[in-house]
Amino acid sequence: MARSQWGSRLGFILAATGSAIGLGAIWKFPYVAATNGGGAFLLIYFLICLSVGLALMLGEMALGRAAGNSAVGTFRDLRGGRWPLVGFVGVLVCFLVYSFYSVVGGWTIAYIGKSFGGEILTSDAKVLGDIFNGFITDPALPLLYHGLFAGLTLAVVIGGVQKGIENLSKFLMPALFVLMLVLIARALTLPGAMEGLLYFLTPDFSKVSGSMLVDAMGLAFFSLSLGMGIMITYGSYVDKEANLLSSSLWVIALTVLTCFLAGLMVLPAVFAFGFDPSAGPGLTFITMPAVFAQMVGGQLFAVLFFFLLLVAALTSSVSLLEVVVSFVIDEFKVGRKAAALGVSLLVFLLGIPASLSLGIWSEYTVFGLGFFDLLDFLTSKLLMPVGEVLLAIFVGWKVWPVIEAELSAGARVPAWLRAMRGFCRYVAPALIAGILVHNL
Ligand code: PHE
Repeated sequence: MARSQWGSRLGFILAATGSAIGLGAIWKFPYVAATNGGGAFLLIYFLICLSVGLALMLGEMALGRAAGNSAVGTFRDLRGGRWPLVGFVGVLVCFLVYSFYSVVGGWTIAYIGKSFGGEILTSDAKVLGDIFNGFITDPALPLLYHGLFAGLTLAVVIGGVQKGIENLSKFLMPALFVLMLVLIARALTLPGAMEGLLYFLTPDFSKVSGSMLVDAMGLAFFSLSLGMGIMITYGSYVDKEANLLSSSLWVIALTVLTCFLAGLMVLPAVFAFGFDPSAGPGLTFITMPAVFAQMVGGQLFAVLFFFLLLVAALTSSVSLLEVVVSFVIDEFKVGRKAAALGVSLLVFLLGIPASLSLGIWSEYTVFGLGFFDLLDFLTSKLLMPVGEVLLAIFVGWKVWPVIEAELSAGARVPAWLRAMRGFCRYVAPALIAGILVHNL
């Protein structure tokens, strides 16, 4: 069977951007930036995305297109030996991340419902905290929503590359930007918003430290969906004529812009109503409803906000599932529908202990971590950096001629390609090894 292809370059860019923009950009970025020196963090984050991030993303896309294969097959076709293991780790990470990502995706659906119902429209942070904790520790409800979210993702992936993923992204990504602009317009016109804006944008360089750099790098690689075979898989559906440099620049620019917009959307509003911006992960589900409760028309904005979060999560989870499905299709010669169904079922099952570990199973821990936190630690702090280091070495040292041929049109090697090689060979491995050591 012929390999699936994107229908258009725009479709590819939006699908890759959809993968990148997710809970990382919209839920994590604002509070991480707020607690890490605002503008200084922003600046460092931008620089990392545009240098090492760009080099790795371009490398992944070029690998996928050169091999025309999924994550594991790409390493096998281009080099063989033990390298396919790197692709395999990527597939595994996607699978593991997807299981808890889907649990959180389910929360966003539940919160759309809670916004409609009006129960979260109170400015009492204690009540909101109780609602949130009551919900995520419930033994049954979150599982229902986790199933619903996984079902939505499954429906898209069964639709295929063009009809499913591309069409969804072409429709939802523009919607996401419009929603953000509406919410930003509301946030910035609140009395007292200026203070939050200044807090977000004023660089506080005294906050720059080793652990801040590690946070910035970790978030950059996570939010660009790097090191786990996603851009390899998406790149394998790109036609040979397309310009990968400009495509990846678009993806990165849009992602970075979204992080910035997410900060503009969340932080001024939080300040305007006197909440603590460093509330951490609770900022989205606990603080934001309180902010909406005090706005005129807050219920509408709450519904829009959680819908936006759902859209962001869905276009990312689709990419996670697609990597695993594409691997199963290519390696085991299974049809797309059977592959997607089987993988989804397994992911659903794995998500159950993840969700329950936040509630009734919280006493079961490994290394002091519940299952949910264990999955998160294992993937974002351990396996993802390992995958990224190996990817950088593979691109920079092992198959560089293939990458060069894939990316340069003529006989002359452009300067940006030489810079990219330097980043893959030296800068990325050194920086990411630093992250890894710090995490352990
Ligand atoms: N980039 C997504 C986000 O920011 C998460 C993600 C990571 C998706 C890795 C796919 C792969 O939320």
